[in-house]
Order: sequence, then structure tokens, then C-alpha cells
Amino acid sequence: MKAMIVKEHGPLENLMLESMPDPVAGDNQVVIDVKACAVNFADILLVDGSYQEKPPLPFSPGAEVAGIISQVGVQVSGWKMGDKVQGMASWGGFAEKIAVPPEALCPLPDNMSYVDAAAFVVAYGTSHVALDYRAKLQKGEWLVVNGAGGGVGLTAVEIGKLMGARVIATAGSDEKLALARDKGAEFTINYTHENLRDKIKEYTGGKGANVVYDPVGGDVFRRTFRAMAPEGRMIVIGFACGDIPQVPANHLLVKNIELIGFFWGAYRKFKPQILQESTRQLFEWYEEGLIKPHISATFPLDKTGDAIRALRDRTSSGKVVVTMT
Ligand SMILES: NC(=O)c1ccc[n+]([C@@H]2O[C@H](COP(=O)([O-])OP(=O)(O)OC[C@H]3O[C@@H](n4cnc5c(N)ncnc54)[C@H](OP(=O)(O)O)[C@@H]3O)[C@@H](O)[C@H]2O)c1
Repeated sequence: MKAMIVKEHGPLENLMLESMPDPVAGDNQVVIDVKACAVNFADILLVDGSYQEKPPLPFSPGAEVAGIISQVGVQVSGWKMGDKVQGMASWGGFAEKIAVPPEALCPLPDNMSYVDAAAFVVAYGTSHVALDYRAKLQKGEWLVVNGAGGGVGLTAVEIGKLMGARVIATAGSDEKLALARDKGAEFTINYTHENLRDKIKEYTGGKGANVVYDPVGGDVFRRTFRAMAPEGRMIVIGFACGDIPQVPANHLLVKNIELIGFFWGAYRKFKPQILQESTRQLFEWYEEGLIKPHISATFPLDKTGDAIRALRDRTSSGKVVVTMT
């Protein structure tokens, strides 16, 4: 098979198309013929070697795949060759084939394309579990979504709206803000030149944000934190800008604010039933036409470096997906 391989950590130019031996399904594995693999922020860090997990070199990045099962291990039950699936791995997805255990699989809804399937589970799952299970977002509450044009941000706008919240989207470009409005944001703020705190206060009639969903970190986090309502909940999703903000505990005390950490991947081992229930609900919403991933670009396998570069350079919106022909 062909795969995009990192032999040495470094810039995205280090990703090279190579021929590799086809994977063989272990006793408790299936092999997926990959049709599409989504780009995630972690892929940037995997290639340069700064991610918390370090796969042994050489390896292929890419965690979220969709395709068709082409081999089934002898101990696997419930799956067969030809099944159309979405699969999660830690890496190895930017390749024509990948072997994964059966617990990493979801069957695809009939009306879902491979591209949508690859882009779906992490982005929507992160926003759904964070807003519902962790932050307990209520109908009518003010939800501020930072980085609202990005992969997870845009899904938080959609899910927040679907849950009945009033959504304020923030982003660094007017194009991304227009997209967030299309997905249900009532107000938008461009954080490159608008005052986040003042605008949030203005739009919420002086109340402030009940829930903030923050995948950006740094100054965007700090400025939004100052616009929270009493008993507000701040959800820490990620640090796309690379700056991890510090929060003085006395500010949490004085304003009765909750700071909530959320990492979707940890729930795969810690409480998998929470993710299974969320994924079931999300696929149902997809089938009903209530949610739909925004894919701003697809790239062929040999252009995986360009696909990851689009995320790194903030030129993408929603999700970017690599497809195999
Ligand atoms: N907690 C979890 O379970 C979980 C799950 C998935 C992802 N994440 C994390 O969430 C973060 C966002 O992931 P994503 O997939 O949404 O990425 P993405 O598609 O690249 O979106 C990130 C957004 O952050 C904004 N941003 C602001 N400053 C930036 C900078 N210096 N560099 C890059 N982007 C910047 C960009 O919007 P503007 O250009 O509009 O500013 C961009 O649209 C990452 O840190 C990722 O690791 C966490």
C-alpha cells in the first residue's frame, strides 16, 4: 500500500509518500481500506514531534478514517468484510489501509459519505460531550464559541444552537464568522480588531457569557474569561494559538465561575459509554439533516502535507480531509 510517512520529526516537508507492506489483521483487529482520513490539529504536532504521544519512527499520522472492512481477525465478532465504517486510531490513517481493534469502529449511516464520516466523530463528539455532559448547557443560555470557524469550533456553534442556546461566535476572519452565522450564531465578534469583553457584554445585555467553549487559548481565552456571567462555565478545549493561559483561582471564587477541562480522547478508555451514547445521538441528528460537517477542502493522499498546512496556517475552515483514490 501507499502511505504518507514521517521518518524524522520536523517540518511538514518531512512527510513523504512511500510504499509499505499491507497491514494484516491481528486476531482482534480488522483492516480498513481507507477512503478518507480527516486532518486534526494533533497531526501538526505528531509530525514535528511535539505531541504528547510519540509513535515510533517511521510512522504515518492521521487518526480519523472512514472506509470499508477488507479483513477480519479470527476473534472479531459483529463485523464483516464489506462493512462501511468510521474508525479511530492514534495514528496511521494517512494510508491506503489501516488495522484497528473492533472497539474503534462505528457503522456508517446509509446517507453518510466517507468524507463526512472521516470529519465527523471527533469534532462533533468533542463539542457535544463538552457542552452537554460536561458544561450542562441549558436552553436560552448565552454560549460563546471561540475559534468558531475551525474544526471543533464550528461544530460547537451547531450543537449549541441545536441545544437551544443563544450563540455568540468569535473568530479571526470575517469569512469564518459568516460561516458561523450560517451554522446558527446570533452574533459574531472578530477578535483581531473588536473588543471581546465589551462586545460580549453588549450582546448579552450586560449579563456576560453563561458558557464559553475555548479551543484557542492565549489572549482570546483571557479576554473572554473577563466577560463571563456569575456561575459561568468555561470549557478548556485546546490551545490552537500555542499559549496556555493561567487562571488566578481568586477570580473563579469572586465570580463563582467553573473552569472545566475536557479531552474527548481520554473518554475512549475512561468512560467509553459516554462517547458511544454521544456518537449514536450525533449520527441520528446527521440522518435527520440537523447537522452536517463543513469540509473546506479535500486533498489527495500525496498532498497530505498541504492538507495539514491549511490547518497550521489558519486558511481552512471547518474540516480538511485527505481522500484515497
Ligand atoms: N479537547 C478535545 O477533546 C479536543 C478535540 C479536538 C481538538 N482539540 C483541540 O482544539 C484546538 C482546535 O482544533 P481544531 O481541530 O478546531 O483546529 P482548527 O480547525 O485549526 O481550528 C483552530 C482555530 O483556532 C484559531 N486560531 C487562533 N489562533 C491560532 C493560531 N495561532 N494558530 C492556529 N489557529 C489559531 C483559528 O481561527 P482564526 O483563524 O479564526 O483565529 C482556527 O480556525 C486544538 O488545540 C486541538 O488540539 C481538542
